[in-house]
This record gives sequence, C-alpha cells and structure tokens, in this order.
Amino acid sequence: MAVLKVLRVPNPILKQKAKKVEKIDDELKELVNDMFETMYATNGIGLAAPQIGISKRLIVIDTKWRKDSDEKEQIVMINPDIYYKSEELRVYCEGCLSVPGQYEDVTRPDNIKVRYTDLDGNEHDISADGILATVIQHETDHLNGVLFIDYLSSLKRNILIRKVKKMGDKPYNEDDDEDEEDEEI
Ligand code: NI
Repeated sequence: MAVLKVLRVPNPILKQKAKKVEKIDDELKELVNDMFETMYATNGIGLAAPQIGISKRLIVIDTKWRKDSDEKEQIVMINPDIYYKSEELRVYCEGCLSVPGQYEDVTRPDNIKVRYTDLDGNEHDISADGILATVIQHETDHLNGVLFIDYLSSLKRNILIRKVKKMGDKPYNEDDDEDEEDEEI
C-alpha cells in the first residue's frame, strides 16, 4: 500500500479521456488499495484514477468515511456508465483533490442511475441521489477529462487554476482552511 501523488491542475493528464479497464487483475487491485489509501490520507471522499496519473476508467468512493470515525463504505466502480440523470437538480459546494483548497457551488442532476463493474467482476446497476450522486458524477467527469471548475465561468476557473499553480507542489494543509466542513472529491 502506498500514498500516491495526486496530480493538480493544470496537469494535461487531468484533461484526457480515460481508457476502459479491460482486465481485473492483481495489479488493478493493488492500484485500488493505493487509491483508497491516498484518498483517506488526503481527506477525500472520492478519487478517480486519472488524478494519480493512471488514465483508466476506475473510481473509488467512500462518502461515509470521516477522520474521527472507523465507519467505512468503500465503493469501487470500474467502467461506470451513468445512463440516467434526473431533471431535478442539486447544488453542492464541491472541492477536488486536484484543485486543492478551492470550493465552488456546482449544480448537477439530483438523481442518477449508473452501471459499473466491481473489483470481483460483478455488474451493478444502482440508483443514487444526494451526496453519492454528486460524487459519482464528479468522479465520472474525471474519466472524461472534465473537472468541477469547468462548470464555472472561465474568469473564475482561471483564478482558481492560478491559485493552485501558486501552491506549487506544496502539500495542501486543510487546517489553513476557513471551512473544515468542506470535502474534496
Ligand atoms: Ni475531483
């Protein structure tokens, strides 16, 4: 297990469309373990493989996990396909490990249906709403080279990118954050 480096904007890998996962093998399972470890270490609730430089359609999610609790609900989605999006919308103040420390409201469908394969090769077809729907859409966007800042005006987007560039490789310290309730996904 290892904590991997999370790529930040404007790294071009984050803008690429990721490739379908063709084979579930030990290497992929190890990658998933590392992604969870990286996500927990950076206080995220979701992470997509392109964020650690692997351009594959693979995401990990845990919306239940909190720093001060042992509760976990790990979800691994291989080749997720969102095939339904509700007309009802939901606004959530999103953050992203690839855009550390920056948060903005993003409006997305409130309810979705998604098909995916799990790490044992089983197919799932689930309906999700609330925070889970937001996270699945945010992470699936990563697989298509789309970031939450792409939903903002170009002016706002460029300001956020500039702020992250200024941070360089410096680890993001969430204790500096004004609002610790925010989560990065
Ligand atoms: Ni993200």
